[in-house]
Amino acid sequence: MGTTTKSNTETDTPIINIKGLYKSFGKDNAILKGVNITVNKGENLVVLGKSGSGKSVTIKCMVGLVATDNGQINIFGTEITQLDEKELNQIRLRIGFLFQNSALYDSMSVRQNLVFPLKRHSKNLTEEEVDKAIKEGLENVGLADAIDKMPSELSGGMRKRIGLARTLILKPEIVLYDEPTTGLDPITSREISELIMAIQKKNKTTSVIITHDMECARLTGDRLVILKDGVIYTEGSYEVLANSEDEWVKSFFVSSCPPANKTTQ
Ligand SMILES: Nc1ncnc2c1ncn2[C@@H]1O[C@H](COP(=O)(O)OP(=O)(O)OP(=O)(O)O)[C@@H](O)[C@H]1O
Ligand SMILES: [Mg+2]
Repeated sequence: MGTTTKSNTETDTPIINIKGLYKSFGKDNAILKGVNITVNKGENLVVLGKSGSGKSVTIKCMVGLVATDNGQINIFGTEITQLDEKELNQIRLRIGFLFQNSALYDSMSVRQNLVFPLKRHSKNLTEEEVDKAIKEGLENVGLADAIDKMPSELSGGMRKRIGLARTLILKPEIVLYDEPTTGLDPITSREISELIMAIQKKNKTTSVIITHDMECARLTGDRLVILKDGVIYTEGSYEVLANSEDEWVKSFFVSSCPPANKTTQ
């Protein structure tokens, strides 16, 4: 199927290349049965699929959080399935992961939530450098004023933004978003999707975005893939997939799109 380049897909250099990925949990529970995914530098790839189809498992395999049964995962030109924990950590430093339902540390202020990854990974930073990085990180998500707030004082949308700032503070080259808009109202979801786009443009990151939110998929995806029965069933731009003649894809879109989003303006 055809692909379109909505944002700044710079080159056709694959920065993520997954080949024949298999993963089972127990004997009769095969989840991934030969997944192939390529993501080029600067590209935003959206991963769709029904609940339980293995989307989160796929991106967890990409950072070595879930061990694979078979297949290759090449990231930044390195085959990661054979790396030890120390080597994996070097790769993980270059990858931001916004976990599904990722929570802020409730007993820490916004500042402390952001200091945490910085201090853990960049031990040599001066206090001024830490302050600067936090200020910049919060400005990027439009929440500079929230620096001294506690998570309990923030709305759901604000928490997502702070989570995003925390994920991005180490300036990752790849960002993996697992359901970045879940639980938010449509307007806030749209704001988060737009923020993802703005950050992608500014930092020139490569992104993989898992979502059930078709508006988020439409706004952020250069290319969409659909995971079904353990493999990538189909791929294409939002417009191509939304107008697919395939009966299963049609019904997937009908059941995933609220009536107001069915058009592809
Ligand atoms: N650590 C684990 N141990 C056992 N089973 C697991 C584990 N992680 C995931 N699974 C199973 O793998 C399947 C796929 O899970 P996954 O979380 O990837 O789904 P998903 O596509 O992300 O779904 P959702 O859209 O609901 O988030 C599910 O059946 C889940 O129960
Ligand atoms: Mg999931």
